[in-house]
Amino acid sequence: MGSFKVTILLLWVLFTSCSQKLEFKVEAKTLSLPSEREIEAKLKILNKPALKTIKSEDGDIIDCVDIYKQPAFDHPALKDHTIQKIPDFLLEWQNSSSSQVFQTWQKSGSCPEGTIPIRRIRKEDLLRAGSLDLFGRKPPIHFMNSTNTINSNSHKANGSNAYVPENRSKSSLITVGYNYIGAEANINVWNPRVDLPNDFTTAQIWLKAGNGPQFFQSVEVGWMVNPKLYGDRATRLFAYWTTDSYKSTGCFDVTCSGFVHTGQVALGSAITPISTPYGTQYEINVGIFWDQSGNWWFRVGHNNPVGYWPAKLFKPDGLSHSATSVEWGGQVYSPMVKKRPHTRTAMGSGDSIDSRWGTGCFMRNLRIKDYSQQLKYPESVSTRAEEEYCYNVFNEAKYGQEPTLFFGGPGQAPPYCP
Ligand SMILES: *[C@@H]1O[C@H](CO)[C@@H](O)[C@H](O)[C@H]1NC(C)=O
Ligand SMILES: *[C@@H]1O[C@H](CO)[C@@H](O)[C@H](O)[C@H]1NC(C)=O
Ligand SMILES: *[C@@H]1O[C@H](CO)[C@@H](O)[C@H](O)[C@H]1NC(C)=O
Ligand SMILES: *[C@@H]1O[C@H](CO)[C@@H](O)[C@H](O)[C@H]1NC(C)=O
Repeated sequence: MGSFKVTILLLWVLFTSCSQKLEFKVEAKTLSLPSEREIEAKLKILNKPALKTIKSEDGDIIDCVDIYKQPAFDHPALKDHTIQKIPDFLLEWQNSSSSQVFQTWQKSGSCPEGTIPIRRIRKEDLLRAGSLDLFGRKPPIHFMNSTNTINSNSHKANGSNAYVPENRSKSSLITVGYNYIGAEANINVWNPRVDLPNDFTTAQIWLKAGNGPQFFQSVEVGWMVNPKLYGDRATRLFAYWTTDSYKSTGCFDVTCSGFVHTGQVALGSAITPISTPYGTQYEINVGIFWDQSGNWWFRVGHNNPVGYWPAKLFKPDGLSHSATSVEWGGQVYSPMVKKRPHTRTAMGSGDSIDSRWGTGCFMRNLRIKDYSQQLKYPESVSTRAEEEYCYNVFNEAKYGQEPTLFFGGPGQAPPYCP
C-alpha cells in the first residue's frame, strides 16, 4: 500500500554562519499516483461479483451482490458477523411494501431476492480521489483561529467555539442533554450548485457520541452533491460513519467495509425527483435508529431499512449504546469557506432562507428517540451557523405548529458573503 500514499517530504535546512544567518528551506513533494495494478486490486475489493447488473439511465451501474458476499465482510471485526435482516423496531412492518421509486436506477430494474444493490465504483472515481487511501473519506478536521474567518460571530470568539473547523461550514440545529437512540426528519430534496472540484454540499442528520470536537464517533445520513466522489453533480443519497472524528476510520456509503447492507436502496445513488422553486416539493424521510442488538440502522421512508452499522464497529464508551447529540442541517466542504473569495458552492436549495416555503431547503418532522422509546420533537434545541451571511439557519415556529427548520444559502454573494 505504501507506494500509493501521497508522500510529502519536508526538508528544512538551517545554516548559520558567523556573520550572518542564512535560512534555506527546501521543500520536495513527491506525489505517486496509484499504479494500474493497485487500481485493479482496489476495484476488485470494492466491486463484488454481481448476480445481476442494472444499467441506470443516469449512467450508474448497479450490481446486485449476494448479501453474504458484500464488502462489509472484509472488515476484520465482521468476519463471523451474522446478518440481522430486519431491525427489531421494524418487525411490525416487515410485510409492508415500500415500492415508491425515489432513486433513478430503480426505473431500470430491481435486484433479485438475496442480493443487494451496490453502485459500481470505476477507475475514474479512484483517480479523482488523488490517493486510494483517501477514496470515499472526508478529510480530517483541523481547526483554525476564529479571527481568520469572515463573518465570525463575536460570541463565538472564546470558549470551545474558538475552534473553527477549516474547510467546512455548517448550519444546523442541535440537541444535547440526553442519550439518543434514534433520530429522523423529512428533508426536501434540491440540487445545489457545487463550484470547485473538491467541494461538496450536504443536507443531513448527524448522531454523535464523544468528547469534544476532536474525539467523537458519528453516523450520518442525508443527501449530497459531491462531484469528486461520484463524478457528477447529481443529488445522491449518502451515509457516512467514523469512530475517530474522521481521522482514519469510516467512509461514505459502502466505499469501505463496515456498513452491512440489507435493503433494496442503493447508497450513493441519485434521488429523483428534485424540488423546484414554487413547484412541487419532494421530501425524503431519513432516520438512524439503534436497536437492541446494538446496531445502528439507516432507514428511509419510515419503513424501509437500508442496512446498519454493526455494534462491533463502535467503541464501548461511545455510539455502542447511544448518541449524546443529534444535529440536523447542512454542511459545505470547500477549501474556500471562511475565506475570501468565498466558494460559490451553495447549501440547501441555494437560496437564502429568507424566502422559506417554495424556494428554501427545509426539514420537518424532526424526531428523536430516547430510552423511553417514544419518537418526539427534541426538548431543547439551538441553531448555529458558522457563516450566517453565506449559509444561514432558522427554526421557524408558528403559533400552534411544530417548528420547521430552514437552512442554506448561495455561498459567495457580495456584499454579504464576499
Ligand atoms: C408476514 O407475512 C407472513 C406470511 O404471509 C406471516 O406468516 C407473518 O405473520 C407476517 N408478519 C407480520 C409481522 O405480520
Ligand atoms: C492561533 O492564534 C494563536 C494565538 O494568537 C497563535 O499562536 C497561533 O499560531 C494561531 N494559529 C493559527 C493556525 O493561525
Ligand atoms: C471569553 O471572553 C471574555 C471577554 O474577552 C472573557 O472575560 C472570558 O473569560 C472568556 N471566556 C473564556 C471561557 O475564555
Ligand atoms: C483545506 O484545503 C486546502 C486546499 O485543498 C488544503 O491544502 C488543506 O490541507 C485543507 N485543510 C484541511 C484541514 O483539510
